[in-house]
Amino acid sequence: MDIEDAKRVGIEAIYNGAGVLRNYFGRISQINEKGVFDLVTEADTESENQIVETIRKAFPDHAILAEESGENKGTPEYQWLIDPLDGTTNYVHQLPFFTIAIALAVGGKIELGLILNPMDGELYSATAGNGARLNDRPIEVSSTASVSGSLLVTGFPYDFNEIVKPAMQRFSVCQQASQGVRRLGSAALDLCYVACGRFDGFWEQNLHPWDKAAGALIAAEAGAVITDFSNRPFSIDQKEILVTNGRIHEEMLSLLKIEE
Ligand code: IPD
Ligand code: CA
Ligand code: CA
Repeated sequence: MDIEDAKRVGIEAIYNGAGVLRNYFGRISQINEKGVFDLVTEADTESENQIVETIRKAFPDHAILAEESGENKGTPEYQWLIDPLDGTTNYVHQLPFFTIAIALAVGGKIELGLILNPMDGELYSATAGNGARLNDRPIEVSSTASVSGSLLVTGFPYDFNEIVKPAMQRFSVCQQASQGVRRLGSAALDLCYVACGRFDGFWEQNLHPWDKAAGALIAAEAGAVITDFSNRPFSIDQKEILVTNGRIHEEMLSLLKIEE
């Protein structure tokens, strides 16, 4: 399979999902709770249906792991990972910081990453070995050399109450050491903003594979370094993720090290 064919289908799928999200924006009537703070709306499920249908039509034998419908059987050689709406809480509150994230893993390795913010039209894309782009423009990470000159971003998972102490400790340490820590509410967008140099570093715990698969490739292709909090190499199944421009990585690792 040519990765460029997959990219064309992925882009078609992401714009189909975006149409759904734009239509429902400000007009949501069903909000269900997957967990106490974990919301799902008809926009999440309809966006996912459109995306899965588009991919299925082009590649009926590929496997699909999509957030709302779970794992679809298919050949394990090709697996699509789909978050049909990353930032549902923002979406419900009509805050225009949310995305759709689509990745394709080939033989277990992420080869394609696509992330779209349907509200501002920014499409981030990468294929392995070919760099990352924001719409048609190549992007790269910032060149900030120290945390004291950095703007950072983090996120809190829905099971935040279980990790509140270490999460707040890390937030506090990084806030004091940097020019500021933001919390946007879409992990996929956080990763893209590190990729294009708006943020110098991002960390979070307990993300799902669909939150980070596409963004990790986009960030890595833009020159980011990605590990867990103990400097072990990145994999989408790890609980922790630290993504930086590379130059502040060591310093961030030491800031995130706390007594748990
Ligand atoms: C969430 C967002 C958020 C992150 C949470 C994710 P969802 O995804 O990415 O930024 O902090 O951990 O679960 O539920 O809106 O798709
Ligand atoms: Ca998500
Ligand atoms: Ca989601």
